[in-house]
This record gives sequence, C-alpha cells and structure tokens, in this order.
Amino acid sequence: MHIENRYLLKDYNTFGLDIQTDQLIRVRSAEDLDQIISKDFLKEKPYLVLGGGSNLLFTDNFPGLVLKNEILGRDITKEDQDFVWVKLGAGENWHQVVLWAIENDWGGIENLSLIPGTVGAAPMQNIGAYGVELAQVFQSLEAIELEEGNLQVFNGDQCDFGYRYSIFKGELKNKYLITSVTLKLSKKPEFNTSYGAIHNTLQEQGITELSLKAISKAVIAIRESKLPDPRKIGNAGSFFKNPSITKDHFNTIRNEHPTVPGYNLPNNYVKVPAGWLIEQCGWKGKRRGNIGVHKNQALVLVNYGNGHGKDIHKLALDIQASVEQSFNILLTPEVNIVPA
Ligand code: EPU
Repeated sequence: MHIENRYLLKDYNTFGLDIQTDQLIRVRSAEDLDQIISKDFLKEKPYLVLGGGSNLLFTDNFPGLVLKNEILGRDITKEDQDFVWVKLGAGENWHQVVLWAIENDWGGIENLSLIPGTVGAAPMQNIGAYGVELAQVFQSLEAIELEEGNLQVFNGDQCDFGYRYSIFKGELKNKYLITSVTLKLSKKPEFNTSYGAIHNTLQEQGITELSLKAISKAVIAIRESKLPDPRKIGNAGSFFKNPSITKDHFNTIRNEHPTVPGYNLPNNYVKVPAGWLIEQCGWKGKRRGNIGVHKNQALVLVNYGNGHGKDIHKLALDIQASVEQSFNILLTPEVNIVPA
C-alpha cells in the first residue's frame, strides 16, 4: 500500500478542476482496504471514496485522504439459457464494460453507453439514460463497511434505488466502499427504443434492423450531440435532478408557458426537465469567464479550463435562485459537492 502525498486530482475529476488532496491511496483489492482500516487511517482525517470523479464538484482542496477505487475484474458467476450474471470490479470503467457486454451479445446496458465513471459509482446514484436505469439490470453488490471492515452483500431492495438515488447517497453515505457489482444481463435482449430521441436517431441513421450495437451507437450519437465530452470541456453531466412537482403547480406554469414539457408520474406528480427551466431563465450558453452553462444542454455546467469549483458552485446557486424565483421550484443538485 502506497500513500501519495499532496496529490493533484485534475485528471480524477471530470470537471478538470485543479484540486489537491493531502493524501491519496489506490485501493486495488479488498486486502488493500483491510490494511487501511486496520491502521486506523480513516479515523485520523476526512476521507473520500473516489471512482471516476464524474459526479463530483470540488469547491476546494481536499484536506484528507482520497481512496481511489481501482478494483478490477470481470467474471461470469452464473449463466443459464436466458441470462448471464457478471461480477464486475468497482473500479472498472463503465463504458468499457458496456462495450464488452455488447461484444458478447448481452443486453440490458446498451442504453447506458458513454456514461462517464466507474462501475462502483453506477449503483451509488442509480445511473440512468434513454429509458433505462441501472436498477433494471442490477443483481447485487459487495461493499466493505469502513469502520470495522466487514464485507456486506446488498441486493436491489437493500440499495433502496430511486431516481438518481440509492442508500449510498442517503443513510449510508461515506460509510461503505463498493468493491464489486453483479449485473444480470440478457442473452435474449429486448431492445428499448421508447425514448423518442433514440427512435429518431435510428431513423436518421437508416437503421432498420435493431441490434445492441445499433442502439449503443444511437445513444452515443445523441450524447455526443448534446453533452460536452469531459476530456475536452470539463463537466459532470446533469448538474441538477429533474424536479417533480404537483399537477396543480404544473398547470399553473403551463398557463403561462404552454410549451412546458412534463412527464406524468404516479400520484398526480409531473416531472419537469430542469434543462427547460434553466433555459427559460436565460442561462443556456451563458459564460462567466472560465466557466458557464453548456450551449446545447442547459442542465450541464462546464469548466472551459482553469475554472474554479467555488465559481461553479456560485453559478449553480444563482441558477437555483433564479429558477426558484421564476417557477417556485427548488432544484436539487445531482452532483456531490465536496465539501458538502
Ligand atoms: N430541455 C430544454 N433545454 C435544455 C435541455 C433540455 O428545453 O437546455 C428540455 C427539452 O424539452 C428536452 C427535455 O428537456 O426534450 C429533456 O432533455 P434531455 O433528453 O437532454 O434529458 P434531460 O432530462 O435533460 C436526463 C438525464 C440525463 C440523461 C438524459 C437522457 C437527469 C438529471 N438527467 O436529462 O442524465 O442522459 O435524461 O435520458 O435525469 C446525468 O445524469 O448526468 C445525465 C446526463
């Protein structure tokens, strides 16, 4: 186990912020973590478990220990005629795993192509895109409790998945390090093209015969057209969650803005795209020096280079305030802000 002091995290956060942590340790196995726990490292100072850093905004240097989850592995643990169960190391790159599944003709995660980050981060916030959420293919995960070092298995119910939510973002925040995730993938996939944009893109591409690869390619094309590539422009995907409001509230907004998009939810709630609300408030494409709001997707805040986390945070707060003032809706961040 090797401790790296005063480590620069610029390449380890997709906002590309010049942030430093006091210490960094790469966790490559459960045994590495055992050592860290038994030496009481986690009791001495603040710590943070880092995967791909794709859902994180550092507003300052980190005055503690970063545990960089680099646990690898891809194993088939079970297989029958219809399904395959794959156990993945939490440090595996998510998109590479998606491509690997597609090569093997295993369906279920092709709609989640090109999402930045690691496998371990996927259940944390129940990643979702284009009509599919991780919870739909999730079987179980293994995680180590960081105080005593006990390994625990969580099934889907125990993860308490919701929209961009799991228990690891709530009650168990910072209490576990996820070591592996097992997915149940289908050998006889049903293609999910319910999301309008996928359907349209497949048509534009002249695809008549559906395949996992065709869907993945369509998703990649949509993402590339709307979302900035974090390797070129720093960002963490959607900065806020799409809010749910009551139908009455939605109707009040619609009286003034007849084109407001909304998706009906159970119990008379409606989900409204935060990107639309932010765009209505005039923020789309706005730039403040080195940072700003993306020109193709108002839900994405960007760092054009040399931006500061504090400024991005301030921009987010200003956006929040103006959406609240105009629509009486309080947006909640999807990204984790560190320190909170
Ligand atoms: N819209 C605007 N202006 C904008 C952006 C969006 O008016 O600047 C409106 C449009 O009506 C558009 C609608 O919002 O049709 C939905 O936009 P989009 O399809 O881009 O999806 P989103 O709701 O903004 C969510 C996820 C994305 C995911 C896409 C596709 C959240 C917070 N975000 O975005 O996830 O890729 O759907 O499924 O739920 C992420 O979590 O980081 C992420 C990128």
